[in-house]
Formats: sequence, structure tokens, C-alpha cells
Amino acid sequence: MNEQSLEPLKPHPEGRALRAEVDLGRVARNLGRVQAAAGGRGIWGVVKANAYGHGAVPVGRALAAAGAHGLAVSSLEEGLELRQGGIECPLLVLGGLRPEALPTASAEGLTIAVVGPEHLAQYAQILPSHPVKLHLKLDTGMGRFGLLPSELGGCLPGLRQLAPWLEGAMGHFATADDPDQGFALRQRRLFDACLAQLADAGIHPAQRHHGNSDACLRGLLDQDTHVRPGLALFGLTTLLEGRTLGLEPALALVAEVARVKTVPAGTTVGYGRTFVAPEPMQIATLACGYADGYRRDLGNRGVVGLAGRTFPVVGRVSMDYLTVALPLDTPVAPGDPMTLFSADPDSPHSVERLAQVLGTIPYELTCALHRRITRRFFP
Ligand SMILES: Cc1ncc(COP(=O)(O)O)c(C=O)c1O
Repeated sequence: MNEQSLEPLKPHPEGRALRAEVDLGRVARNLGRVQAAAGGRGIWGVVKANAYGHGAVPVGRALAAAGAHGLAVSSLEEGLELRQGGIECPLLVLGGLRPEALPTASAEGLTIAVVGPEHLAQYAQILPSHPVKLHLKLDTGMGRFGLLPSELGGCLPGLRQLAPWLEGAMGHFATADDPDQGFALRQRRLFDACLAQLADAGIHPAQRHHGNSDACLRGLLDQDTHVRPGLALFGLTTLLEGRTLGLEPALALVAEVARVKTVPAGTTVGYGRTFVAPEPMQIATLACGYADGYRRDLGNRGVVGLAGRTFPVVGRVSMDYLTVALPLDTPVAPGDPMTLFSADPDSPHSVERLAQVLGTIPYELTCALHRRITRRFFP
């Protein structure tokens, strides 16, 4: 079979009546709040996974304009998308890079995390002709990427060769959201010990960053020069500290009502007939389903907003549609906008509250929002 690369479907603004409304002013204000909580440290704004579903290029531009030092992405492709979108600030590829891709990274001015000892020698061969700034990832307890503290000693000769390009050292907390800070503090101590070992070997990365959003909110930053928040920039948090900081959710998911029908008691709705109308009622169908990222398990559990009131999602969520029950006397008509994810953190259909209903984290709900959803950006 021949390999083919197809352009992703581009939503047309006048097409499907489903849109994510993204308030870039809120993103910029959240950046200011997080930076203040982080004592003014430099911000690597994490915009991987299409800026957690919010739209990588517009969000990236807004963060850069609002004073982020740089943006962090997970892959080469995500970095290239931002460069092609005209973003010129530093871009850090968190997931590392195969050595063969270094020339591309160099041409595009990407900064690369060094994520494993096996890359050191190959990088040292390529960087003199294709220079790239590097951040050394240290695995202080996340168990994914990075050099283990026990490996560092053996890697020092290789790291000395890379020293001219080594701009930063970084780690990542596994439990910054945990009220028990024991493990996080252990990670910090290991990070400091690694930095001291590097310094003894004459390696002094100018930037040090270990903290995500929750570490900023919980003050786990110690000697770090920079931080790497993601979630908090979008106004989302699972911590009380985040709410008291006044973070404002940046995204609302809105679908226009496609059809309304009045049904008698006993009518069943959707696949599997999991909802039976207990009385005569209106059923509104919205063009948003699990293919858009609206979770199927919100069927018979989620709520949506209309004109300041909330109504239950009834029956199973299907691929492209979901159904909402409204009393007979509720004014509702095709074209009316219903809010599926509210930007009011206290509403029962905020991203955080729906995540709680589902027993998951807010990240999963916004990251899942499909690229076929039209995104509208407000300054
Ligand atoms: C390496 C790294 N740094 C920073 C972040 C940002 O974390 P958060 O969104 O919790 O602030 C992430 C997110 O997954 C990450 O993987």
C-alpha cells in the first residue's frame, strides 16, 4: 500500500454549528497570574496537544505577546506547526528528538530536551554543523524521560562535549497536586543534587525548571529560573490555590440546536434506548458527539447550558450528536446556542466539574476536542 499524507479536514466557519470559543485575553491574564505566583520566573508556556485543545498557534501567539519566555511542545511536528504559524519565540520540544532530525530542528531554531544517555554521542557529532539549544532532562521520579541520577556520573564526559549547547536542565514532578509534598520534595532534592554534580563537572546550565502549573501554585520552585505551566494558563486547575488565584477558564464549547421535537411519555432516545421520557417533553439534538471529543460516558450524566439554565444530556452520546431533555414550556428552537463546556468555573458544566463527574482530569476533556471543531478566538 502506498503511504499517503492527507491534509486534515479544515472546519469552515459557516459549516457545522459547533465551535470552541477561546478567550485569548483570559489566556494572557492567566499567564500574568501564574507568573506572579511563580515569583516572576520565566515562563515556558506548555502548548502541546494543540494547546490542550485550545488551538496551538493563536494561543501560542497570545502567550508570546503576553510575555512568555518561550513555548513548550511535545514533538518536532508541533514545533514546526508553531513556526509555520509565524511564532518566533523559543520553542522547547519536551519529548526529545531522534538525532537524524537535529538538522531540521536547527534550521527552525527549536530547542530540544535531551531525554536519554544514548543520544549524547550522536548529538555531539551533529551539533557542530547543526547547532541546537539543549535542555537536559533529569528523571528525578517521573519515570518516563531523562537521565536517572544514577546514570549522571557515567554521562558527564558526554555532557561536557554538549556543554556549549546546553542551555537548561529540567525535571518534572509526578505529584505536585498531592497535598502530601513528600515525594515532590524528594524530587527537588534529587534535582538539586544533579545540578551540583553537573556544576562540579564544570557544567552550568543557565536555566533550571522542574515546575508545572501545580508546582507554581504550591510554591515548589526553589532555585528554578523558569517554570513550565500548561493547564493553569487555560484557566483550569484541580487545586483550590488555582481558584483563589482567580484563574479564568479560556474555553467554552458551544453547539447550536440542530432539531427540537416534542415527544410523548415513554419515548426512548438514542442507541440502546437508555433514556425513556418519563413525561411529555422536548428533545433537542445537538451536532456534537464523541467524535468531537464530547465524552460518550456523559450520556445520562452531563448537563448543558441554555439561557442561564442547565438541562440534562439524555440517552447515549453518539458519534456526531447528543440529545438534551427540556420541559415543554422551555423556549428552545433550532439555532439556539447551548453551552456544552462552560467558561464559568462554578457552573455544573465547567470542564473541571464534568471531569469530576467522569472521574478524570480536566486535561483529558479539552485535549480531546477534535480539530474538526471550529475554533473562534477572542482578543
Ligand atoms: C514535561 C512537562 N512539563 C510541563 C507540563 C505542564 O503541566 P501542567 O499542564 O500540569 O502545568 C507537562 C504536561 O503534561 C509536561 O509533560
